[in-house]
This record gives sequence, structure tokens and C-alpha cells, in this order.
Amino acid sequence: MTHKLALIGFGTVGQGLAEILRDKGAALRNNLGFDAQIVAISDFIKGSLYHPGGLDIAKLLEVVQSTGKLDAYPDSPGLVRGWDSLTTIRQSNADTVVEVAYTDINTGQPAIDHCRAAFISGKNVVMSNKGPVALAYQELSALAKGNNVRWGFEGTVMSGTPALRMPLVSLAGNDIREVRGIFNGTTNYILTKMEEGMSYEAALKQAQELGYAEADPTADVEGFDALGKVVILANVIMNAPLTKKDVACQGISQLTLEDIARAKAAGKRWKLIARCSKEGDRVTASVAPEMVSLSDPLASIMGATNAITYECDLAGPITLVGAGAGRVETGFSILIDLINIHRGNI
Ligand code: HSE
Repeated sequence: MTHKLALIGFGTVGQGLAEILRDKGAALRNNLGFDAQIVAISDFIKGSLYHPGGLDIAKLLEVVQSTGKLDAYPDSPGLVRGWDSLTTIRQSNADTVVEVAYTDINTGQPAIDHCRAAFISGKNVVMSNKGPVALAYQELSALAKGNNVRWGFEGTVMSGTPALRMPLVSLAGNDIREVRGIFNGTTNYILTKMEEGMSYEAALKQAQELGYAEADPTADVEGFDALGKVVILANVIMNAPLTKKDVACQGISQLTLEDIARAKAAGKRWKLIARCSKEGDRVTASVAPEMVSLSDPLASIMGATNAITYECDLAGPITLVGAGAGRVETGFSILIDLINIHRGNI
């Protein structure tokens, strides 16, 4: 059965997913029996298209990448233009809404409203936007369950690296007492460059030029991006209803080249560590720079790479290392959620 998608937003992640479907569509159909079709796109700036019989993915990409808009997509009988996001979510014949629009990191909007509308309309949601999971996990997961639809958000923590699914699926049965990790590529890149002697300001500028940093890099350097991710881990992996205000958060903006040299002299290295621990039934979380010993698996994570260590009672400590951002990697995070919905796994 064809899995019909409505994309809310057609920026980097939406186009990354569309490219994967264009290039691997036949392999996904033949190897996994997964047949996806984009029936709608609604983007605040680029425009909106809906066709209940499906849109031509190669054409969508060609048009948006050459003109920056969807207006030049050719007319055909049944094609509807101009629907806003909520109309697309409510009235399209999509099975799943792929929510990849710009979201306010403080309010989680409009993505939270998009999720509510989709679940109430009986549609699944797959997303890489952190806001709805970090701010409204308990409400939205109950709403999805109550409407018998699925909610996938693998890409919210470490993009396509399976930081959420691996503990839930492959480590099930363990009591995971602690997770700690490096969840922000920008700050890890800055710390790596400072160790090479570059100033904080120059390293941040490079991270912005390379596209790692958020639109407002305060979210990276003050730890708020990592904070959102550790709140998601607490809720999803440890089943603890923590919110952002429960988590002490400190970034790396105060670290100087002298601090870096001091760590090096002590055989250590600064890392921005986000951690979530369980003592009895009490779960606490924090984000702060720490001097970690060079023998710690997290010490060897350099540049924009992310990593997470799960302390498992049965399997022991397990560390997962991988990308934390990227067009294809985050596009893949959406794909794996869609494949798991297709398989009935989430
Ligand atoms: N700005 C983030 C980072 C992107 O540097 O890791 C992924 O959330």
C-alpha cells in the first residue's frame, strides 16, 4: 500500500528526504516493500501544492532548486495550490505529516499545533523538530495514542544516528541508569578548534559558516540545544516527565584558551556534557562543560560529531557515535521513522 506524505516545510530536511525518495524509491519498494508518495507540500515561503494522486518528486526538486519556489511546478487536473499548513494537514489525503517547518525553539510553535491538528485528523506525524518533543511530549504522545496514530521523532536527538530507537529497541530489558553525551556539534567543533589554538570567536564563526550552528547560535553556545535533547531523552528513554526548567544548564561561552590549556596539562579535555541520571525513581538532568579524562569514550569525539553513552545494568556501558545534523542524515531520520511506521513498529 502506498504511504502518502504531506510535507510541512520544504527546506533543507524536506528536500533531503525528497532526494532520498527520488534516488532510492525503487530500492525501498523492492527491498522493503515501502512505497512512499508525496501528495502535498506546504511551505510558508516557497508555496503549496496538493495532488491526491501524488506529486512528481524529481520535478518538485528541480523547480524548488532552480527558482526557490514551488510556483513553476506544472499544472495538471486535480492539482491544488495555496493551501496553508493546517488546511494541508486537515484536508489532504496523506497518511503521515512530515513536520519540517521552521519552529520557534522557545514555544515549539507552529509545530505543536501542527502535531495536534494531525493527530486529531487521524494522521501520523514524523519530525526532526525538537520543540514539540521537548516541550509537549506527555500531551502529544497521549493525543497520538488516543487517536490511534503514530509519532516518530528519531531525528530530534543526533539526527539519523539512532540515539532514541537503539535504547528502546536493541537495549530493551536493561535498566538504563544514566545517559550522558555530546549532543551539540557546534560547541564540540568550537572546543576542538580552541584546543588547536583558535579563539572562541573565530571557531564560532567557522561553525556558522559550515552550517552547524542554529540561526541564533546562542542556542548552541549557551547549551539550550543540548538541553532540549536531554529533556527528550529523559522523557522518552527514562519515562520521566522532565521539562526544560527542571534542568540546570550552562554553556561554553565562558571557557577561555587558558581553561583549555589547564585541561590539557591535567590530561583531560573540555566537553559540553548533557547528562540524565536515575537514582531510585528520581531522574535528574544537567548540561554543563566538564573536563573529561582522555580515557572516557566521549573525550575522543572531535569536530561536529555527536556521541552518547548509555549505562546499562545488563549490557554495560554502550557508546553510540555519529552525525548530529546534516541534510542527508536528518532526511534519513525521517525515512527510518516512516519505515518503522510501515512495519508497524512505532
Ligand atoms: N545546531 C545543532 C548542532 C544542529 O550544532 O548540533 C543540530 O541540532
